[in-house]
Amino acid sequence: MHPFSRSQEAKEMFQAQSHLYNHTFNFISSMSLKCAVQLRIPDVIYDHKRPMTLIDLASKLRIHPSKATCLYRLMRVLVHSGIFAETVVPRDGKQEEEIKAYVLTPSSCLLLNDKATGLSPFVATMLDPALVSPWHFLGDWLGGNNHEDCRDKLNNPFEAVHGVNIWDYGRKNPEFGNTFNTAMAGDCQLMNLVIKDYKEIFEGLNSLVDVGGGTGTMARIISEVCPGLKCTLLDLPHVVAGLPESESENVKFVGGDMFESIPSADAILLKVCTLGIALL
Ligand SMILES: C[S@@+](CC[C@H](N)C(=O)[O-])C[C@H]1O[C@@H](n2cnc3c(N)ncnc32)[C@H](O)[C@@H]1O
Repeated sequence: MHPFSRSQEAKEMFQAQSHLYNHTFNFISSMSLKCAVQLRIPDVIYDHKRPMTLIDLASKLRIHPSKATCLYRLMRVLVHSGIFAETVVPRDGKQEEEIKAYVLTPSSCLLLNDKATGLSPFVATMLDPALVSPWHFLGDWLGGNNHEDCRDKLNNPFEAVHGVNIWDYGRKNPEFGNTFNTAMAGDCQLMNLVIKDYKEIFEGLNSLVDVGGGTGTMARIISEVCPGLKCTLLDLPHVVAGLPESESENVKFVGGDMFESIPSADAILLKVCTLGIALL
């Protein structure tokens, strides 16, 4: 073989190897993001009000000195992923010496807890072991042929692992259910930025039913933008139980099963998020 062909072949193999390694270790990005949310690193940097050095961050987070290197590596991953960015500041106030410091990016701004658009609950929920563990069984589930033995467990890997569908799981585990609903509400809040610019979509409608509308964030946004529009929200009884109804908000909550009946209205809204992919 010509030496050039050999080096080309080697180059392609190394590229293929790094491609595979990237995909093998992709979970590190997700889990590092989850860790940042768990430790509330975006809020800590935000509250610091200026770029934050590793030492200040470690001290604020009360990280044991023996783990400081780990925190450094975690921040490297998160900077690489664009969750945070790096800048330099004078070391101990001395202009002649510089030290690295972390700042927020648009992505970490979306993780701040005091923002209605905060996506921290979304990250925490989607990376909760309850939703991540089914992925470990995707192969078993796909390859399994035990249709007769577990007819009721074959809808998706989530059901195969937990024995119930995600909605029943949320009902039986209220802590997960509540975080899930908060996650969906955060996801919906971002629609605030677009609905008012596209309100003509709702022109000519007197009523709308938001099917599977969760705790009503989307319905409230629509009713604020279109005050004349009567919005009904249908979701499972345990999701809408106890939600405050207010005449001025023009949103009515109905508990029920969309597969049994849907309140009548001029239009139906069915908004789902990427969770469909998560559940396959
Ligand atoms: C992925 S969430 C979407 C929530 C909201 N529409 C959004 O976009 O953020 C799906 C919603 O459908 C609700 N749901 C699931 N099965 C349902 C059923 N059979 N009848 C009514 N609602 C249901 C869940 O409780 C959940 O709130």
